[in-house]
Amino acid sequence: MNQKYEALFTPFKIGEVEIPNRIVQCSMGGTTIFGWLEPSHFDIEGADFLLQRAKDGVGLVLPGMQVIRDTMGRKWLDSNRQMYRVLKPYMDEYHKTGGKLFIQLAGGFGRSMAVTPWMAALGKNDLLNKLASPIVDVQYAGASASATPNRWADGLTSRPFTVEEILELVWHFGASA
Ligand SMILES: Cc1cc2nc3c(=O)[nH]c(=O)nc-3n(C[C@H](O)[C@H](O)[C@H](O)COP(=O)(O)O)c2cc1C
Repeated sequence: MNQKYEALFTPFKIGEVEIPNRIVQCSMGGTTIFGWLEPSHFDIEGADFLLQRAKDGVGLVLPGMQVIRDTMGRKWLDSNRQMYRVLKPYMDEYHKTGGKLFIQLAGGFGRSMAVTPWMAALGKNDLLNKLASPIVDVQYAGASASATPNRWADGLTSRPFTVEEILELVWHFGASA
């Protein structure tokens, strides 16, 4: 191997965790383990894809952003016990590669929530949003720290979270982790 690449194959540490080399797969929504923009579940195809990357020698894999509350169906990630049961043997298998996997937990999508025209229509109308909220709550998924404009839809403003909602999110971050 060309000597200039040798450093790529040396380990490094993040806190107490040793990563076997410098090759990191960045987080990309869609390459998830628990499903993407759908009710959380153990996504076998996504998990197999990530495991294969580790087998190929990627030292650290960061699956796509994982929201702690489903966008569709609105279930908390930590309440999905079955998914965690499947995750355990998967991680045992994953660790045999020597690679590491960090899950990027997120509270929601906030102002960057990519909304389609029908979602924007819901988000702008309190009554329609409330009616649809058991399935998809655009005002919740697009909520943020303050009333900032959505990145994708003109005229759609993020609803600021209430203090109670923020405390609830903090609790579920811990439970999901
Ligand atoms: C389709 C796509 C989805 C992404 N999803 C996430 C994400 O979930 N979390 C995150 O932190 N970054 C995300 N990113 C940013 C990437 O992790 C990366 O930082 C960015 O693409 C810059 O790296 P690159 O120049 O190699 O593309 C995403 C990028 C792309 C293209």
